[in-house]
Amino acid sequence: MPEHTVDDTPVLPLAVLRERGMIAVQVGTTRVLLVHVDGEARAYDNRCPHRAWPLERGTLADGVLTCANHGWSFDVATGRCVDPGERDLVPHRCRVDDDGMVRVAP
Ligand code: FES
Repeated sequence: MPEHTVDDTPVLPLAVLRERGMIAVQVGTTRVLLVHVDGEARAYDNRCPHRAWPLERGTLADGVLTCANHGWSFDVATGRCVDPGERDLVPHRCRVDDDGMVRVAP
């Protein structure tokens, strides 16, 4: 994975993500799904790897995101598909700054 740079786009405070659990944001031309995981942030392409359904319409429970279209589910800590296990989420570079701002570079 490439190094983080100062050009990573600030998208929202981690505290907001913690409250909501997951949020889709626009970063440039890319729709990115941010997910709160144990005090950290993960960023994934918002398109389901099955048939590109917007993952922001899915449900998040116990660290597992389930797509609302055909029910594929993903471990949001790793991006791994857990059912049916065919294709994983596409990650984006993501970090939390010292000021608590989540930054993403799609
Ligand atoms: S589009 Fe997400 S499971 Fe089919």
